[in-house]
Amino acid sequence: MTVRRFEACSDAELAAVAADSFRREFGDEPDGVWAAPGRVNLIGEHVDYAGGLCLPIALPHSTAVAVARRTDGLIRVRSAAGPPWDGRLDDVGPGRPDGWASYPAGVVWALHESGLLAADFGGVDAAFVSTVPIGAGLSSSAALECSLALALAPDADRAAIATACVRAENEVAGAPTGGMDQAAALQSSEGSALLLDSASGAVSHVPFDPRAHGLELLVIDTRTPHRLVDGWYAQRRAAVAAAARRLGVASLRVPADRGRDGTGAVRSLGDDVLRRRASHVISEIARVRLAVTALESADFAEFGRLLSASHRSLARDFEVSCPELDSAVESALIAGALGARMTGGGFGGSAIALLPTDKVDDAIATARRRAAQRRLPDPAFAVVAASAPARRLL
Ligand code: GLA
Repeated sequence: MTVRRFEACSDAELAAVAADSFRREFGDEPDGVWAAPGRVNLIGEHVDYAGGLCLPIALPHSTAVAVARRTDGLIRVRSAAGPPWDGRLDDVGPGRPDGWASYPAGVVWALHESGLLAADFGGVDAAFVSTVPIGAGLSSSAALECSLALALAPDADRAAIATACVRAENEVAGAPTGGMDQAAALQSSEGSALLLDSASGAVSHVPFDPRAHGLELLVIDTRTPHRLVDGWYAQRRAAVAAAARRLGVASLRVPADRGRDGTGAVRSLGDDVLRRRASHVISEIARVRLAVTALESADFAEFGRLLSASHRSLARDFEVSCPELDSAVESALIAGALGARMTGGGFGGSAIALLPTDKVDDAIATARRRAAQRRLPDPAFAVVAASAPARRLL
């Protein structure tokens, strides 16, 4: 069997495919095409809803939307991801459309609620195409939201658009996620990782170019569906909030910033599960700081160790890994990765591995062999670089 790879394509190709899809769906020319990337988080997992620090990169894989404004109030959205949906501004609030259409409908609603939608908004036709695999934990939903939001509010502040997209996802699509994915899609910079401080919303860019150092970042999609709406994610989030309440702090960022005293306070939490959840958050925030320092000095060996330590903490203390992710990570390490970890929400989805260029094929072969031995799905792979944020293509 050949290796499954999920490929990105050039902006020109993506724009052409989106415009074609628009013509097929609506029989007309679009006004323009916008795109937003998926992401992998390098480190800083399950901390964005605890006021923590995360470090994602934008993927070369993007969702593009071809749009044309309307004047009759109709909103029509089309995608291979699900059935067509037509509605009006009154139909797009919380609890209205469900399935995939809740994401684009939610964006229109959230932009309207936050005053970012043009006052003369008269409806829109939108056709989506994507190279971000769905359900692979690579933020296909944020890519969809952010592409449409930028198309509808191209001059708005990107942080404000990101906030609106988070509202769309939380309040209309019903996925209680933090803000990392939308920030990555809108505020990243090519060649760099995005350091997001979720407590303040501040972002900065940390150079991330492993290729210049003979290394590659390999994404391993375990092809095990990852679901954010099935309650596991919400449970983890609730545990993190409960730990903060018990410690009498607004968020776990507070003990994380207190160094040893903070770690000590977390150890004193009576409940074992809460203690382990909180320990992950505190130690992960510390690892992000160390990872930034390592990248600033191009110390990829140290950076790799931090990735692997993050995975261990997510697997043991936060308990969001699964056999498929553990197998992908182990395989990469056996093949000579400097570090590897699950990325995103977990419970399926994708892992990342930092590998010497000449070890990539070996890592792919090892991951496939071990998956087959354990009767797990045959994974899919992509070698990725830190890519461009949301943008207009046409
Ligand atoms: C999902 C969410 C993010 C973040 C990660 C875990 O991707 O959408 O907000 O919480 O899980 O780090």
